[in-house]
Amino acid sequence: MGLVTLKEILKIHDGAVGAFSTYDQYSAQGIIEGAEEAGLPVILMIGSGPLNKPGNDYVGQIMVQLAKEASVPVCVFLDHSKDYKTCLKAIKLGFSAVMIDGSHLSLEENIAITNKVTEAAQALGVSVEAELGALAGIEDGEEVKQAKMTDPTHVEEFLGKTDVDGLAVSIGNAHGLYKGEPKLDFERLQTIAGISQDVPLILHGGTGLTLAQFAKGVELGIKKINIGTEVKKTYIEAFINTHEKNVSSYDMVEIPQACKKAVAKMVKENLEFFANGWRKLI
Ligand code: 13P
Repeated sequence: MGLVTLKEILKIHDGAVGAFSTYDQYSAQGIIEGAEEAGLPVILMIGSGPLNKPGNDYVGQIMVQLAKEASVPVCVFLDHSKDYKTCLKAIKLGFSAVMIDGSHLSLEENIAITNKVTEAAQALGVSVEAELGALAGIEDGEEVKQAKMTDPTHVEEFLGKTDVDGLAVSIGNAHGLYKGEPKLDFERLQTIAGISQDVPLILHGGTGLTLAQFAKGVELGIKKINIGTEVKKTYIEAFINTHEKNVSSYDMVEIPQACKKAVAKMVKENLEFFANGWRKLI
């Protein structure tokens, strides 16, 4: 088991694999423990913003080490890098997949940067995810105000001129907490899936989507679902609740353990739904 690429992990079962954002040792351990309890593969990811903070190379190293020791397949993934340099940094740290996010660029520029990263990554056996269209919302402090839905007419050209292992789509999904009820354009997803054929499709902005929306997405071909905000919410709520039970102890031993346990439970439930549970809602 242990460390596997994105290409490999998305072939293990015919549902979708959950990808969860991590920020430190305890959230990373919680994500892997949740996957081990479920007996299912998991994608452990960190955004380029958090990875580039001072001292956080160590978080990357911990992620790789935990993946190697896990009893289930784990892909260690760099999420949303807009630059080549951070992709190389992740590859040097031992990550098994990187995302080059050229969604803010023109189609031609997106193809060019995606190919530059893919050439370097795949030569070293590392998978690559790209994005076409752009998501609105806040991702680790960075805000994108205007969503740009994935244009199906761009998909064929993009996939014809690149060699990516996964494609993130924008179909009404957004990063962070949704304002009001999220609405996903499943017709657009179906059209894209008809064009993308064997290239796995990725759904970002998983926090706040309903089980019915996840189920429909997986049915139409989504193979990876990203969850970020829910990890932070679960972790911080467990932190506050455990601290408030005995404020004067400032318990740096038990509070992180409680956070880890809460994250593991959330991850297990989501992984089970994405792998199998979705079928009951179809
Ligand atoms: P959420 O924070 O909305 O769950 O999105 C996470 C994500 O898509 C990371 O790429």
